[in-house]
Amino acid sequence: MRILIVGSGGREHALVWALRKNATKPSELFCAPGNAGIAQVAARVRVKANNIAALAKFAEESRIDLTVVGPEAPLAAGIVDEFEQRGLRIVGPGREAARLESSKAFAKEFMRRHRIPTARYRIASSPDEAIEILQSGEFGGKEASVVVKADGLAAGKGVVVASSRSAAVQAVRELAGGAVSAEAFSRIVIEETLSGREVSLLLFSDGKDFRLMPAARDHKRVGENDTGPNTGGMGSITDGSVLDDAMRDNIVRDIVEPTLQGARDEGFPFRGLLFIGLILTADGPRVLEYNVRFGDPETQAILVRLRSDLAEIFGAITERRLGELEIDWSGDSSACVVLASRGYPGPPETGAQIEGLDLADRHERVAVFHAATERGEHGEWLTAGGRVLGITATARDLDLALTRCYEAIADIDWDGMHYRRDIGRPESWALVG
Ligand code: AMP
Ligand code: GLY
Repeated sequence: MRILIVGSGGREHALVWALRKNATKPSELFCAPGNAGIAQVAARVRVKANNIAALAKFAEESRIDLTVVGPEAPLAAGIVDEFEQRGLRIVGPGREAARLESSKAFAKEFMRRHRIPTARYRIASSPDEAIEILQSGEFGGKEASVVVKADGLAAGKGVVVASSRSAAVQAVRELAGGAVSAEAFSRIVIEETLSGREVSLLLFSDGKDFRLMPAARDHKRVGENDTGPNTGGMGSITDGSVLDDAMRDNIVRDIVEPTLQGARDEGFPFRGLLFIGLILTADGPRVLEYNVRFGDPETQAILVRLRSDLAEIFGAITERRLGELEIDWSGDSSACVVLASRGYPGPPETGAQIEGLDLADRHERVAVFHAATERGEHGEWLTAGGRVLGITATARDLDLALTRCYEAIADIDWDGMHYRRDIGRPESWALVG
């Protein structure tokens, strides 16, 4: 089996790692474009993740049996449609189903059509209309918090949880002023601010059947106690405390099943990975967003608990036989702590020399996933982006998993390295809103 992973982050390193670790049959792994850490376990292909034509050509010429896509942009641009037209096997939703992530307005209207609980919202077609909606008081008085979202993909920069009406108006102006692309901002979602604990629920789906992964929690803010700007994610955990069985069953009945049924009814049965971002409010769970791919860094914490053969799961998705598969997860807890470069989530400093990686790698039950690394001239490890490493560990309980992560982190250093010391701590589970 020759498998191509598209993407270059910690998520993709975890995918490659899990494909190797639980393989029941030999496989050859490729990653495009990957990073220097991934190059230790898969062949790097020097093609960017959004160059769909070049990826398809590579898959054909290199006789790739199965392709798995990490990031959202190629999915939204139709990589799955292109591969399938050429008879290439690929895991992921087609362009139409990918709108659940690539258009927030589409996702909100989809949820309305299928009575899936989500924040109350309005869609505006221009910044002026958005400001009018805000001024109308429909989302509360001047002091009320309200959320402004760019419709399109904006790499995490398109959502502002504003603490007041004037801050929301300011956010509309900033987003319109070029903080996100004009295309992403051609429609604007205004929605009520919800409060509660956030949960990431990921599942495999073949269009007919689905299988849940262990629920995860992401830590989006850069600073401890959930302060500072949003990031792609500074750490993640899986643990029994993230979601109890009763609430999970509730979410399956009211959200997961109606979502998958809705996609079938609308003619785009969902195949691939669905990531439902939820907030558990006092009135019950609500969907914050859909992602049509693995989360980063949720995937790192989730996949270290996988005991089944991941290639077998992906194969079952493409062959529509997920219903026949039992997926085995360890009963452990897990944690992933992201180590970031100075400047992140703004423009990061890169090229710093990373010390101690080999030592960190030797810790028991710790996996060091590379998100953005390169090798220097003399083989030294260098930082190559904002999120650089995801130190991930499993243990019988969350405390021990976190201890293992932080002990390994103590071995690592570079100039400007920063990370949150409160990943997975209950007091860091600040309520949004
Ligand atoms: P999204 O990309 O829609 O998930 O938004 C990114 C983050 O913004 C979420 O993970 C939440 O932390 C926050 N957020 C989005 N929508 C809301 C909402 N309606 N109420 C409170 N927080 C929200
Ligand atoms: N960690 C959130 C995401 O991948 O979108």
